[in-house]
Amino acid sequence: MKYRTHNCGELRKSDVDTQVVLAGWVDSIRDHGKVGFINLRDRTGITQIVVKDENLLKLMREIGHEWVISVSGIVSLRPNGMENPELLTGEIDVEADKIEVISKSKVTPFVIADEVKAKDELRLRYRYLDLRRYPMQRAIIFKSEVYQAIIEYLHNQGFVNIETPILGRSTPEGARDFIVPSRLHLGKFYSLTQSPQIYKQLLIIAGFDRYYQLAKCFRDEDQRRDRQLEFTQLDVELAFVDEEDVFELTEGLMEYIFKKVLNMHLHTPFKRMTYEEAIEKYGSEKPDTRYDLFLTDISEIAKKSEFRIFKEANTVKCIICEGDIPKKELNNFENIAKGYGMGLSWLKFIGGKFSGPVCKFFSEEVLGEFGLSKNSTVLIVAGESKRVSKALGGVRRELIDKQLLQKSGKYDFTWITDFPMFEYDKDTGRLVPSHHIFVMPKEPEVIENNPEAAIGKLYDLVLNGVELGTGSIRIHIRNLQEKVMEIIGLDKDRRVKEFGCLLEALEYGAPPHGGIALGLDRLIAIMLNIPSIQDVIAFPKTLTGVGLLEGIPSEVDEAQLKEVHVKIRNE
Ligand code: AMO
Repeated sequence: MKYRTHNCGELRKSDVDTQVVLAGWVDSIRDHGKVGFINLRDRTGITQIVVKDENLLKLMREIGHEWVISVSGIVSLRPNGMENPELLTGEIDVEADKIEVISKSKVTPFVIADEVKAKDELRLRYRYLDLRRYPMQRAIIFKSEVYQAIIEYLHNQGFVNIETPILGRSTPEGARDFIVPSRLHLGKFYSLTQSPQIYKQLLIIAGFDRYYQLAKCFRDEDQRRDRQLEFTQLDVELAFVDEEDVFELTEGLMEYIFKKVLNMHLHTPFKRMTYEEAIEKYGSEKPDTRYDLFLTDISEIAKKSEFRIFKEANTVKCIICEGDIPKKELNNFENIAKGYGMGLSWLKFIGGKFSGPVCKFFSEEVLGEFGLSKNSTVLIVAGESKRVSKALGGVRRELIDKQLLQKSGKYDFTWITDFPMFEYDKDTGRLVPSHHIFVMPKEPEVIENNPEAAIGKLYDLVLNGVELGTGSIRIHIRNLQEKVMEIIGLDKDRRVKEFGCLLEALEYGAPPHGGIALGLDRLIAIMLNIPSIQDVIAFPKTLTGVGLLEGIPSEVDEAQLKEVHVKIRNE
């Protein structure tokens, strides 16, 4: 018998009376004595098998959930009123004339159902079973469809898909490298590439003026809901372009993906905001712009209070929230502000009356200047401008997460532009690149005179408060590239040792170029409204970087260590 002639999601009314063979997993069994039903499942759906034959009923009673069986039978119309509108195949069933057990299953450690009660650890330990659940299948298949749309779009735009090495040299994306000891070269190591950044620039210099890659990247950094040790970027680079060209291409790509996969029309061009404006208005460089909840500068009002901290602060800002926020939540906001090294005060305007710890420092008249008419809670932070904004930005994020209705199905893209090239690192007293060192400054002269003030041709694409991608126009002139390296404290030796190949290549005819890298796991998770990228990756690691399925990281044989000249130091 052929294993299958159709899949389990395929048969419709028009197939009635056809002889078919289906194969799949037993999703459920219902035994009604003289008749039995098996829901047979594969990744395309479920078909109800009807069992009437006595011998087959006997066999059915031996079969368990998740067994793999093959069924031959005739497609028949379900009796009136027995249709299941929730199944694509809900108008028909298949009356079995033959059932073959292909493979048995032990009782699974958790039920294979849409809603899973099992803990994450158990799901990850038996990931191949977890992946059988419909929401997981949907996410993985959806991802594949998005990849297909990306490939189509970029192919039509004349892009060349080029692979770059995974065993590379340490790249400057700011995370720790995973290092791989060399067997043939004593004491030497490869690094797993954090991104193909340098390779893609070299490809541009090599003349591939439109490059892309669905690139696996490896970063040894602390895990979060939107961070994994290995993840996938859509990495793109173009020659002879400026920022506007990258924006246009990315917007076209997003429009294409959303139309193709979600049949949804995105509004382009996307909103734009400078870094400074984002910090000023939202207290974040990745603001969730779906919510009209803004930071308000109340420095002038605060100066009129009797509260020393407010009077002396360089900036006082607040978020005005609708309604009465309970004490427990206010304590939570205070702790969040503390995490940014800032204090948080609050006052309330409820039923026409002001209350709260800082109220007593304000006269009635000055309180009136807050302009409150509805019941409100005002969260206030005072201090140095940027720190104030960032602390309130953290509070705003929490407010959105905990207090406001989630706006699912809304996709709000914003370009954040004009990032500073460098940030001041308190620990080392040095300037560090705010992204990476290859960013072209908007005004190269500023780099010479006042690097701290330099703005880069550097942009992020933010979607619903998540940094979806980062990119920039790159430096294509060696002297300027070396200048930037010098500013962050790389001496000549290190410049040549670590970036020699790029610096050299810049002297052999480098065109102006730029690009972007988009986090695809993040994109898929947001498109599907899934909180963690773990659920859109087939075999992810836990938040502590463990692969529960494979049992990794794991020890290796002493002989293997010896081969790569590595000794474990037990300190
Ligand atoms: P960047 O380091 O900002 O830029 O990375 C680009 C995008 O990749 C995603 N991303 C991650 N996703 C999951 N887990 C992680 N650990 C993780 N780290 C980053 C994010 C991020 O916006 N070479 C540059 C890009 C360029 O300049 O073209 C780069 O890698 O969505």
